[in-house]
This record gives sequence, structure tokens and C-alpha cells, in this order.
Amino acid sequence: MNHKAIIITGGAGFIGSHVVRLFVNKYPEYKIINVDKLTYAGNLANLKDIEQKPNYRFVKADICDFEAMLSLMQEEKVDGIIHLAAESHVDRSIKDPFTFARTNVMGTLSLLQAAKIYWESLPEKYEGKRFYHISTDEVYGALKMDGSLFTEETKYQPHSPYSAAKASSDHFVRAFHDTYGMPTIVTNCSNNYGPYQFPEKLIPLFINNIRHRKPLPVYGKGENVRDWLFVEDHARAIDIIFHKGKTAETYNIGGFNEWKNIDIVKLLISTVDRLLGRPEGADDDLITYVTDRAGHDLRYAIDSRKLQRELGWEPSLQFEEGIEKTVRWYLDNQDWMDNVTSGDYQRYYDDMYKGR
Ligand code: NAD
Ligand code: DAU
Repeated sequence: MNHKAIIITGGAGFIGSHVVRLFVNKYPEYKIINVDKLTYAGNLANLKDIEQKPNYRFVKADICDFEAMLSLMQEEKVDGIIHLAAESHVDRSIKDPFTFARTNVMGTLSLLQAAKIYWESLPEKYEGKRFYHISTDEVYGALKMDGSLFTEETKYQPHSPYSAAKASSDHFVRAFHDTYGMPTIVTNCSNNYGPYQFPEKLIPLFINNIRHRKPLPVYGKGENVRDWLFVEDHARAIDIIFHKGKTAETYNIGGFNEWKNIDIVKLLISTVDRLLGRPEGADDDLITYVTDRAGHDLRYAIDSRKLQRELGWEPSLQFEEGIEKTVRWYLDNQDWMDNVTSGDYQRYYDDMYKGR
């Protein structure tokens, strides 16, 4: 497939910025249009190194704005959409579910409907087109500590407002394939980590707190398990699936890399302390057990063998190596961190952890 104009939504966010960078650098013959509303989580500083490239365009827009999406698709003659824009933080969804339904459900529907109207207006219709929706393993619910894994056949059982909204958007995407014949793909990925992640998520938040010797709020007993994947490996999977994935398929993406939260926290403390030249164990007492997240999913773990078998993708980094790289990046990019934690951030932080 020779795609010429691709919209990437949410390209100023964490994963989106890695996907935009990969596509802009790897495919100079494509035009990459980054559509992002620049919410608190969107940051154009994430894309400084590629913003001057001739095959890149940034459009500040809300995906819920159907008219704007349709006219942009018409103007740019878009033939591919990689959709990452979303509200992505579970804790925020617990406090404000409406925003999650609006962006994740209605925003996805607005993009689907705009793509449908534009592509169906063309003589070749859906030929050579692709709508690729990036989703999460959280739609499958939670696993027990029994070694089982989420496969592409696992039934949807979302628990948080975030995962319920993502599940709903996945259903709309599949419905547009089944009803109108739109060439869609959905992938469900596990927890990502790496540079440019907003410090509300466990890994960048805790790296920053350790650096500043602030308490590390571990939810519950710290025994919940997540399956961690380095963000550049996710971006690489998205590239492969966008180009070679089968229409209407679902692919799970994961790291085969399960860690209990408390073990990650200990690894982060020892890595940050070593890199800052602090004595071993100097910051162990920052660990602070706090009230658990409401409805906290016990364990996520992805079976990504279908993707490995059919498209040859596999994770490239060992977790310890990825964490070392990630911690170094945050320590070396304190300006980036200071910038995203200025403004409203402290208010968010105090509010989120107040009374826990
Ligand atoms: P993020 O919160 O870092 O970035 C989201 C981006 O979307 C931001 O740039 C934000 O400005 C933009 N955005 C939000 N609402 C918008 C709107 N209405 N219109 C246009 N832009 C809007 O998120 P992330 O962690 O990079 O996640 C990206 C996608 O990947 C999401 O769909 C998420 O569900 C999915 N995902 C994330 C992970 C993870 O571990 N972070 C894992 C699996 C799947
Ligand atoms: O599994 C994929 C999902 O991973 C994505 O779909 C989400 O967008 C992404 O945010 C992430 O969700 P989690 O809820 O797993 O990520 P988070 O970094 O918020 O939390 C990871 C674990 O750490 C989780 O068990 C909750 C715990 N935690 C988190 C924070 C922020 C703490 O113990 N303390 C904290 O302060």
C-alpha cells in the first residue's frame, strides 16, 4: 500500500510523538499530519527535532470537531489514519468520566464518520485506505495471578471509565468495518514506558519524585502487575501493522514482561540513586503506601504471539535496559520535566493524592 497522506491523532502526546517521529523520519515520501488538541497531555516540545521537516504538518484541532476533521481529510486527501488521541489516565477517568466518554467515544466516532463520508465520496472508495485505531489491554479487564494472558479472543470486560470508553471506541471501529466496509485495524497494547511520558503515570512520576526526594505514593500493597513495553517498540509495531496488518484484524501488543508495581518502584529507586551518585538505599524510605485506586485492576499480561507469528514483530529491549535508558532520559531532560510540571500540574498532583 502506498499511503501518501496520513493523519496521526494525538501526535503531541507520549506514544503519538514516537509514532510521528518514526513515520516522518522513515517515510519522507509520506505527508504526516499530526492532529492534536494540545490538552494538558499534549506537548509540541515532544516533537522539536522533526517539526521543521517538509513532510510534517501540525494541526491544532479537537477530534470531536467533525466538520474540521472532514475538511482536513478532504484538503489533504488523506488515505490513512492512525488514531491515538485519547484521554489516557485511569485516575483522571475516575474523577471525570464525561471527558473520557467525549474524547474517546465521540471523538473516535467523529473521525470514523468523517473518514466514511470522505472515502465514500471518492471513485475508488475504500481501496487503498486504512483506519488504524490504537487501543489498550485494559478493555479485557483484569487477570488473576494465575499465569493466564489476554489473547485477541479474550472477552471485553472493562472496569474503569477509561477502559469502558476505550472499549466502546473499539466497538465503533469494528462496527464501521462490519457495516460500511471501512478497512479498519485495532490493536490492544500493554503499559508503555519511555521518554516524553507525562508525569502522572507511574514511571515518570516516580523518577521525578525520587529525584526531588518526594514521597512515592504506591497504591494498595504495590502487588498489582503490569506488562511493560518500551514505547519505541510499540511505535515499531504500529508501523509494521499499519503497513502489513490484515484489514479487520485485531493484534495484541505486549512485552512478555510482567512486573509487580513494588518491584518496579525498587528498581527505579536503585537506578535513579546510582545515576545520581547517591548511596545505595538512600531513598528507600520514600515508598509510601496509600489508599488503593478504586476498582484497581489486579493484573494485565498480553499474549502477543499472533503479532510475532504473523508479522514478525518482537520487543527489542530487556526491561532493565529500557528502564536505565528511560531514567537517564528524564534525568538529562530536566527542562522538559520542569516545563510540563509548571502551571496547573501541582494543583492536579495535590488534588489527586490529597487524603490518600
Ligand atoms: P497521552 O495522554 O500521553 O496523549 C494523548 C494525546 O491526545 C495528547 O497529545 C492530547 O493532547 C491528545 N488529545 C486528547 N484529547 C484530544 C482531542 N479531543 N482531540 C485531539 N487531541 C486530543 O496518551 P498516550 O499514553 O500517548 O496514549 C496514546 C493512545 O494509546 C491512547 O489512545 C491510549 O488509550 C493508548 N494506549 C496507551 C498506553 C500507555 O501505556 N500509555 C498503552 C496502550 C494504549
Ligand atoms: O495497560 C495499558 C494502560 O497502561 C494504558 O491504556 C493507559 O493509558 C496507561 O495509563 C496505563 O494504565 P495504568 O493504570 O496501568 O498506568 P499507571 O501508570 O497509571 O499505573 C501503573 C500501575 O501503578 C497501576 O497498577 C497503578 C499504580 N500506581 C500508579 C500511580 C500513578 C501507583 O501505585 N501509584 C501511582 O501514583
